[in-house]
Amino acid sequence: MRKDQFVCPYIVCDDPKELDPKDAELLCQAHEAAKNAYAPYSKFNVGAAVRLANGVVVLGNNVENAAYPSGLCAERVAMFAAMAQYPGVAFEALAVTAYSASKHIDEPVAPCGACRQVMVEAEHVSKRPLRVLCQGETGPIMVFDGVESLMPFVFLEKFL
Ligand code: THU
Repeated sequence: MRKDQFVCPYIVCDDPKELDPKDAELLCQAHEAAKNAYAPYSKFNVGAAVRLANGVVVLGNNVENAAYPSGLCAERVAMFAAMAQYPGVAFEALAVTAYSASKHIDEPVAPCGACRQVMVEAEHVSKRPLRVLCQGETGPIMVFDGVESLMPFVFLEKFL
């Protein structure tokens, strides 16, 4: 028997100017995307922007539904749209932002587990680390250089 631990490395950026300019731009695009959220039930607007290896940026926002489970998170809207419109093109980076009608979000909002699982597969297919940037409405930016540190003990194709 032995005790083990999972290490989750990430970078915290207090100023977007510290980011790679392309990532800073991607984050701005995620903020823009959040404005398109269709979130009449939660009033929690999420924006996502995926940059592909061909330089194209695909945006997503959360889309809710009166039948609650029929809605989808912003990250998966963006990733699935990218995979549908640019099949086989690798993902480079994904930025996520969130706004709430009830409070000011000044800390990064971490993607949900289902979105992380999709990120893992997108990263695997892309054959390169997928950088993930998370920010609230304002405040620090968390940067994960690869999805592994966001999703320990992930379910992989090899288990099938
Ligand atoms: N949401 C996202 O878009 N991304 C996440 O990673 C977590 C949650 C959305 C789903 C729902 O529309 C609203 O935020 C509240 O959960």
